[in-house]
Amino acid sequence: MKRAALGLAAAALLALACSVPRAESIFFSESSHPDPTAADCERCHQEVYREWQSSGHSQAFTSEAFQRASSQARATSCNGCHAPAPIDETAPVLVRATHLDEGVTCLSCHLSTQPGAAPLTMRGPATRTSPIEIHPIVAEDPFYRSNELCGRCHELELSQWQAAEAPPGEPKETCQECHMPSVRRKVESTHDEHGYSAIFVAMGRQQDLRRHGFAVPEEASEWLGFTVEREAGRAVVRVDNRMPHDLPTGAFGRRVIRVAATWPGGQATRVLAGGSAGSLEAGETRELTLAVPRGVRPADLHIRLERWDRKHELWTVLVEDEPGA
Ligand code: HEC
Ligand code: HEC
Ligand code: HEC
Ligand code: HEC
Ligand code: HEC
Repeated sequence: MKRAALGLAAAALLALACSVPRAESIFFSESSHPDPTAADCERCHQEVYREWQSSGHSQAFTSEAFQRASSQARATSCNGCHAPAPIDETAPVLVRATHLDEGVTCLSCHLSTQPGAAPLTMRGPATRTSPIEIHPIVAEDPFYRSNELCGRCHELELSQWQAAEAPPGEPKETCQECHMPSVRRKVESTHDEHGYSAIFVAMGRQQDLRRHGFAVPEEASEWLGFTVEREAGRAVVRVDNRMPHDLPTGAFGRRVIRVAATWPGGQATRVLAGGSAGSLEAGETRELTLAVPRGVRPADLHIRLERWDRKHELWTVLVEDEPGA
């Protein structure tokens, strides 16, 4: 779109927005109003939507593991955190009334629960830059940069985080700093089929924001010390948990961390933590000896720290130690 055309379109939109009592109803589908789905948010927040969709949060209710463990969601005490109504700083997390299949969805984390707030008021950490208010906004809300938000459901990780010591001379990192990678972008992003989103994107400004991946950080080696001593017939491995929570963490589901060694023609593995081996607390170090055949040259040993990925049912590498490194 040319700049002039954009200006015109924006002016028309502004006029429209001012002339109808609730501007948002033009942009949210009538059927889902006043309880929009994530797909409704996708119209103007497509990037965030795609990140969220690929995260465990969007599967928190439908996942086979949850359905099985909760007897197909009949254990209603489980549904609160897995299909939550909008959360806030203090009230208990309760199950929502509609579209449970979206799990931990946009409205769970962003819809204001303030009594008397206008319908569809969204809370968030960003600075307002757009001249149009599509939905009312509570901007620069500190709750969104705090561990307490995550801890509303991740009670266990929050209590581990609170008990952990800060690294010398530095503040402890927050959940968001490790699990929501930073990105410079605009709050809005364009949708292929909803052309009007381009107008909002054109009006917004870039800011330092965070992706909604809620995944295991790619650079896990930053917080996991991993030293290997190679000797004839064995490798001695030491793992140092510098994360502010257990390795592995989590109260539900089976998480396991193991050490794996490979050499030309063979391999050996041993569980380091998780399951009956117990977790490594924040700051804890654990040592483990892996037996390898006497004939293997220490320089031919390739040693990795791995975690079990439940979703894809395979072992993924957290840290590795190359031969000769
Ligand atoms: C588990 C809670 C959670 C869920 C679910 C969630 N968000 Fe967020 N959202 C956050 C947090 C926390 C931040 C702030 C991150 C930061 O910048 O520190 C945020 C930031 C944002 C922002 C500000 C801009 C940006 O890119 O960071 C927008 C817009 C947003 N979310 C929209 C959405 C939409 C749309 C969905 C659903 C597709 C969604 N969120 C799902 C917690 C959540
Ligand atoms: C028609 C477009 C449109 C739709 C649909 C839409 N938004 Fe927004 N949203 C915006 C615009 C525009 C802003 C303000 C951006 C700015 O000021 O830079 C915004 C801002 C936000 C913010 C940022 C608040 C802050 O300051 O940190 C959040 C959170 C948010 N929206 C969540 C949602 C959620 C959740 C949905 C779905 C229920 C949704 N939005 C649907 C256009 C939309
Ligand atoms: C409203 C409840 C709720 C909030 C708030 C919440 N989570 Fe979650 N989170 C869950 C549930 C439930 C799961 C389990 C989803 C699954 O894997 O089935 C989960 C899973 C995760 C996972 C593992 C993902 C995976 O693929 O297994 C990470 C990492 C995570 N959350 C980080 C965060 C962070 C960081 C925040 C704060 C920004 C946060 N969560 C806020 C409920 C929540
Ligand atoms: C310093 C970085 C860092 C901080 C801060 C951090 N984590 Fe983690 N977290 C990690 C790493 C690395 C892993 C992967 C290792 C593992 O599986 O234990 C992980 C694993 C997880 C998992 C398991 C994911 C899975 O799929 O198995 C959850 C859930 C989680 N973190 C939640 C949180 C919450 C909630 C907070 C805040 C209270 C938090 N984390 C703070 C680095 C961090
Ligand atoms: C206080 C909030 C809360 C409640 C209540 C809750 N969960 Fe969860 N659940 C979580 C969080 C957070 C995670 C992700 C981190 C973890 O694994 O500890 C999770 C993860 C899970 C997982 C792992 C998903 C996977 O893919 O491995 C299963 C299974 C599960 N919960 C089942 C249940 C069952 C069954 C109940 C009821 C007895 C329940 N949950 C009640 C917060 C909760």
